[in-house]
Amino acid sequence: MSTPSNNVWAPAQVPVGEPGVPTHWLNPIPSLPEPLPPVVDDSEDQYRMKLQRRIRLQSMLALDADTNSLIPIPEAVREDLANIGRPTPLTRARALERRLGTPAQIYLKREDTLPTGAFKLNSAMAQVRAAKEEGAERLVTETGAGQWGHAVAFACARLGLHPTIFWAAISARQKASRHALLELLGARVESSPSSVTELGRRVGSDPTMVNGSLGLAIGEAVEYAAGHPETRYISGSNVPHVLIHQSVIGLETKAQLAALGVSPDVLIACVGGGSNLVGFMAPFFDDKAARGDDLRFVAAEAATSPRLTKGRYEYDYSDLGCNTPMVKSYTLGRDYELPPTHVGGLRQHSGSPIVGVVHHADLLEARAYEEKDIFAAGHALLMAEQILIAPESCHALLAGIEEALEAKRAGEARVIVICVSGSGTHDLEGYVEKVIKQ
Ligand SMILES: Cc1ncc(COP(=O)(O)O)c(C=O)c1O
Repeated sequence: MSTPSNNVWAPAQVPVGEPGVPTHWLNPIPSLPEPLPPVVDDSEDQYRMKLQRRIRLQSMLALDADTNSLIPIPEAVREDLANIGRPTPLTRARALERRLGTPAQIYLKREDTLPTGAFKLNSAMAQVRAAKEEGAERLVTETGAGQWGHAVAFACARLGLHPTIFWAAISARQKASRHALLELLGARVESSPSSVTELGRRVGSDPTMVNGSLGLAIGEAVEYAAGHPETRYISGSNVPHVLIHQSVIGLETKAQLAALGVSPDVLIACVGGGSNLVGFMAPFFDDKAARGDDLRFVAAEAATSPRLTKGRYEYDYSDLGCNTPMVKSYTLGRDYELPPTHVGGLRQHSGSPIVGVVHHADLLEARAYEEKDIFAAGHALLMAEQILIAPESCHALLAGIEEALEAKRAGEARVIVICVSGSGTHDLEGYVEKVIKQ
């Protein structure tokens, strides 16, 4: 992997303040090494673009179009972020280091400590606050693992809005405790494929599709919003404004590492749509531009949805209904059969175009992991540090463990920083199946 030596890779300098709730979001788009490929609607009347403009929050469309690198976080949102427990801790996993016998230092950015157990709340608070200010009372969205749905239900309960959530059936079934929690928080939950939309009814009649997928749930949520003009559609990943919201993770990490006087050698995150990864890494783009291969970015994906390691870099729809404009990113093709797994948050056929550009420019390494191996890594962390993390985050952890063992072989005191995107409290079924019963 090499850093381009011409001037296209010239990211904004990120101001490193005291550790605290950041005052600004960092927009990764102006500093990408290649221009972001535009979204494309090949329909004659541009109906997909028009639909997006009608169903989405105006302030989110404005954020997507913002060309500034640093965007002030509205004061009410900063307060919301402080109230949910930001900044999240950056902790050193010394017991894990000892178990691995590595000279490497392993740091964990602990998004699992947020009240819904995942980083998704960072964007949910910002979007639901924006919806309230725009006067929207009803929201619709989709969720894969349920972490995003949980975050939206939490934010809506806090700010007095009413969400409908299409939830990929496989995860909705696996996570009965989270399902109950969403309903207790007042959300209307529809297992996808549902009988509520035309797309859900059509796809649901195909026995191979009964487990659902994120792409299907997106299609259902978009169709629902199209038919309910009083309802606004919001997303939990893929689109630029979500990745911008998630930059609080990396901005905090950067300030926390600076306060410790530590400089990272490798940053690792799991990747589904790309929001925790870009939010965590974008504030370090300026360091990478200066340090080249001395600072590495690693994306950990599921071997069952290997977009970056095996997908094609081309235009595709993110929803199975093909009602959203096409975006260029790494895709497996929307007809790709995604096997049922316990890793709902990484189980999708395509992802964010921003991740696509960074990977295509050779600035982001990608590794794919099997489910049994990631749960073993999660169990190792539980035994060492007594922290139970989400299966999605276990992918990043496993890549971090590999780095630490490689550092041991090389005798290097490498600094490894891992984004722990979520808690595994609602993923016990997976741990039971893949660890206890093995
Ligand atoms: C805990 C957790 N981590 C990671 C992800 C992946 O999302 P993204 O790639 O947008 O960060 C999800 C998505 O649901 C998740 O729930």
